[in-house]
This record gives sequence, C-alpha cells and structure tokens, in this order.
Amino acid sequence: MRDYRYTSPASGMARTDREERRCLVVDDEPRLRQALVRLMQLDGFTCFECGSGVEALEILEREPVILVLSDLRMPKMDGATLLREIRERYPDVAVVMITAVAEVEVAVECLGRGAMDYISKPFVLEEVRARVKQALERRRLVLENRHYHHSLEERVRVQARRLEELFIASIQSLADALELKDAYTRGHSARVSHYSGLIGRELGIEGDTVRQLELGGHLHDIGKIGVREDVLNKPGTLTAEEYAHIMTHPVLGWRILLPLLSDSPVALNVVRSHHERIDGRGVPDGLGGDAIPREARIACVADAFDAMMSGRPYRSRHLTVDGALEELRRHARTQFDLDVVEALCSVVGRGDIALPTRHSIAELAVGKG
Ligand SMILES: [Fe+2]
Repeated sequence: MRDYRYTSPASGMARTDREERRCLVVDDEPRLRQALVRLMQLDGFTCFECGSGVEALEILEREPVILVLSDLRMPKMDGATLLREIRERYPDVAVVMITAVAEVEVAVECLGRGAMDYISKPFVLEEVRARVKQALERRRLVLENRHYHHSLEERVRVQARRLEELFIASIQSLADALELKDAYTRGHSARVSHYSGLIGRELGIEGDTVRQLELGGHLHDIGKIGVREDVLNKPGTLTAEEYAHIMTHPVLGWRILLPLLSDSPVALNVVRSHHERIDGRGVPDGLGGDAIPREARIACVADAFDAMMSGRPYRSRHLTVDGALEELRRHARTQFDLDVVEALCSVVGRGDIALPTRHSIAELAVGKG
C-alpha cells in the first residue's frame, strides 16, 4: 500500500485547471500537514501529502505537481536534501520550505539553493496563502522567461538558416552565371575543389579550413564572368593582350566575392592567389614562396593538374595523369610548391582521386564559419 495520501479538492473546478493546480505537502507532523492540505484545497489545489523526502520523491516520480511545500526537519531525507533533488530532477516545480523559527538560517540557505520562499512555524494561514501565491507568480515569470528565451533562440536559428540559404543561393547564382559563359568551368571547378580538398587533407588541413579551401576551389575562376567571351572561348593561341585580360580574373573574382565571403578568408585567398607562382612571377600580386597563402598554392596545383588533363579552347594537348604529375614535378620550385605537388602525387598514388560527378556548392558551404 502506498504510504501517501491523495485528496481531491472539494470544489468542482474544471479538470484542466485542477491538473495545473497540483501540489505536494511534505511534513512529518500529520496535524500540521493536514492543515496545509486543507488550506491548499480551499485554494483549488489537488493535494498529495507525505511525511518524508524519500516518499516525496516517489510521489513526484508519478505525479506532476507545480508546487511542493516541504518541512525542513524530517526523518529519512530532510527538506534541504529534498530541495536539491527537486531542483535537479524537476526544475519547473516551485518549492516553499516550512521552518521552525530556529531553522531560519537554514531556510535562508535554501533560498540560495533554489527554494522560492520559506514559511516560519507557527504560521498564519493567510500568510501561507500569500507566500504560495507569490511563489507561483515567481515560477510563472521564470517559465515565461525561459519560454521567451527558447522562442528567441529558435527565431535566431531560423534567421541564421535563412541567411545561410541566401548565401548559398547567391554563390550558386554566380557559379551558374559563369557556367553559361564558359561551359568548361563547371566540371573543372568541381574537380579543382575536389583535388584541393584531397591535397589539403593530405597536408594536415582539416575542419572549416578545408571546407573553405574546397569552396575557394569551386569559385576560383568566378572572375571569368568579367572576361570577354571571344577571349574566353578563343581557339588557338592567345595574344599577350588577351592573356593579360584573362589573367585579370583572380582579382575580379576576389572583388566579386569579398562582400559574400568576408568571413571565409581562406576561400578568398584561393580565388585571388591561385595564379601566383613560387618564383614570384605570377599574378596578381607577384607573391613568391611562402608569401603565397598555402591554400592558394594548393588550388594552383589542383587547377593546373586538371587543366593539363582537360581540353581547353587554347590547348589541344591532353596529358595523362602520370604525364600531368611529371609536368607538375618539372615546374615545382618555379611555378608550383613542391610539397603540394608531392602531396598530390601521394593522393594519386593511393588511388584516392575520383572525379566528382557534381560537387554541390551547398555541401561545401555547410559549416562556413
Ligand atoms: Fe584561374
């Protein structure tokens, strides 16, 4: 048989209201406990009652309540311990401590540990009523505040998701615009992104940096949007003027992407510096050696590797994988970073290179910082 008693309120309140107004009275002194139960019932509460903290926890496991009135000094488990347990397990329950005058200091300590209030014995019923009302009002405010924060956090999350979607859509639009102009670019950009990621990981780059590297690889030629189509698709050899015009694309791309990728410096570096050379004779800034951002040195090798094996309007010769690696090695230390070339050779040697079918920009942008 259960060692606690359940008493329904005398009044005929609506069921839902009764369910909300449920309380537990914990006191080892039956007369006092019953006085409290009667008072709470008069105020429309459905009451559970018991004589110790252990029993109280058993009841709370089965019966949801919004309020616990608990004596401090009880057998088995005292009120302070019960309070701690309730705070941990049922943080939404308001706890009001009942204390003897001599225990006021302990009761005040309980306030510091999360009790809403305390009532000193012997108590006046009107005072109990007022304290309970106050405690429940405080509980309501706490719950409201928490709900407000949750809904605020949810709204922020929704906004952030929307911003991310807009960001991805804007990047995708740019990529689509370039694809319309230069059909070769899409497959090439996807492969450069893929190779860059593989090389980057081979060199120990990971996390958001490698994702930015891949994003930069995908967008590295975006500046070609600003290159004349007759030059972009010209068969045969380019004039010096035409070549110079094409080679404005790293800076053009960097300018286009700067407002969009201001929090992705690695990706921006790839776009701006993927035509720099180790010997300092590249564009646009004539950087040399380690002054070229590592991500750009990686994308540069990935770009050249794919270009050597692909057909371009101005290039009729296609190299095999081995031929392309040989060519990269031959130009390492002048055009390419030797470590990056070696990393690519390792990746290829292990058979890790796979041509992506369609590298999703959305995938690359996920996790953008
Ligand atoms: Fe390029």
